[in-house]
Amino acid sequence: MENFKTIIEPFKIKMVEPIHLSTAEQRKEYLREAHYNPFALDSDKVIIDFLTDSGTSAMSSNQWAGMMQGDESYAGASSWHKMRNSIFDLTGHEFILPTHQGRAAERILYGYLGGKGKTFISNTHFDTTRANIEFSGAEAIDIPCEEIKNNKHFYPFKGNMDLMKLEKLIIEKGPENIAAVILTVTNNSGGGQPVSMENAKSISIICKKYKINYFLDCCRVAENSYFVRHREKEYEHKTYLEIAQELFSLTDGAIMSAKKDALVNMGGFLSLKNKELADACKNLLIITEGFATYGGLSGRDMEAIAIGLKEVFEPDYLHYRITSTTFLGDKLKAMGVPLIYPIGGHAVYIDAKELYNHIPIHEYPGQALVCELYLTGGIRTVEIGSVMFGKYDEDGKLIPAPMELVRLAIPRRVYTQSHIEYVIEVFEKIMLNRHKVRGLKITEEPKFLRHFTAKFENLTDIF
Ligand code: F0G
Repeated sequence: MENFKTIIEPFKIKMVEPIHLSTAEQRKEYLREAHYNPFALDSDKVIIDFLTDSGTSAMSSNQWAGMMQGDESYAGASSWHKMRNSIFDLTGHEFILPTHQGRAAERILYGYLGGKGKTFISNTHFDTTRANIEFSGAEAIDIPCEEIKNNKHFYPFKGNMDLMKLEKLIIEKGPENIAAVILTVTNNSGGGQPVSMENAKSISIICKKYKINYFLDCCRVAENSYFVRHREKEYEHKTYLEIAQELFSLTDGAIMSAKKDALVNMGGFLSLKNKELADACKNLLIITEGFATYGGLSGRDMEAIAIGLKEVFEPDYLHYRITSTTFLGDKLKAMGVPLIYPIGGHAVYIDAKELYNHIPIHEYPGQALVCELYLTGGIRTVEIGSVMFGKYDEDGKLIPAPMELVRLAIPRRVYTQSHIEYVIEVFEKIMLNRHKVRGLKITEEPKFLRHFTAKFENLTDIF
């Protein structure tokens, strides 16, 4: 398809799920009822759901066929062997434990290795990764590369880890106190940006030198492989699968939320090279998740993962996936929407602080954009800014997050090109009205993870 401008979905639609269209008037009411927090909206009130790319993939006819063959035996199910083989082909890690999703694997591995006095280092820890580490009493330190700070400049691998800081931290803390180095590919919290193989190899050398565990948070590893092949010269003739296999070969283990690049709605795994560590984790798995050959998953879920992990590396699929995300981002950029550039693999991140530079941070410009996208076009997104990460000082003054972003996370194989065109049209209206938009005030919030359940008042309604 190289000679055509139009991106076509490399699949046909066999089964459809209705989208309930709504009017702007109705959405105004729905959002008021949800206290201006789209997490409180029922999904049938949403037209385009960009809240997350996690667990929202459409499965293929092959995966659905596999579901019918799910072996639901408690122990030694054939579906487990299929899932295990797929993961082993990919990772080369001998010891594999199934889990119901990524954070269950995180709790087991990082809970076991963590504890007071221990440090984990990552390009950027995802929220649940950080939460599991901190819950164990350990600390989680992010050391993304410097290039990530510049939103506008094209740098091919903004997901990279800062190698100088890595070695400095290891020496400062003492190698025996570093529980693990975790490389997140692509770097979700850092804008979905890819990590280069060169960076991954250098980290491996450093971890070997100091005898430190090196793990991959690999939930978007196929998307990362696409970027490596197209941006790192040495890899242009390798297949996406070979690139991923090489990445895994550098590490001591991996954690995967299969809800992303395994193209399924539920599932995860933990894979390790070290038997002793795997045995300890297996015990913890059995205590809270399930027996070691299902780990909280149904046989049918394991079938779907076994197939999805192969399908995700198909070149036509990956090309469509990355170019359609880039298409959306590039169109928005051309329209003058401020965003993180270059566009990442699974999402477009809008800089709401710049878009609504008239809204003060304590009135949450990111949440204002989340609300506007819903009111204008029924698009559900998530704020990644001071609503999610803001804290208060002793006087109750907001300590803002470093950035005020809004994430448009694109589910896999779910929306068509015309849905994307629709989103672009919604943004044209957003740009026209940008100066009229007011911020929000939080009226109710829980102590932890407030973005899920906080209630807001819309300042436009007040003035
Ligand atoms: N690691 C990364 C990089 C993730 O993006 C996620 C989930 C997890 C771990 C945890 O996996 O949800 O299966 O327990 N990210 C979702 C998101 C929730 O919307 O980005 P999980």
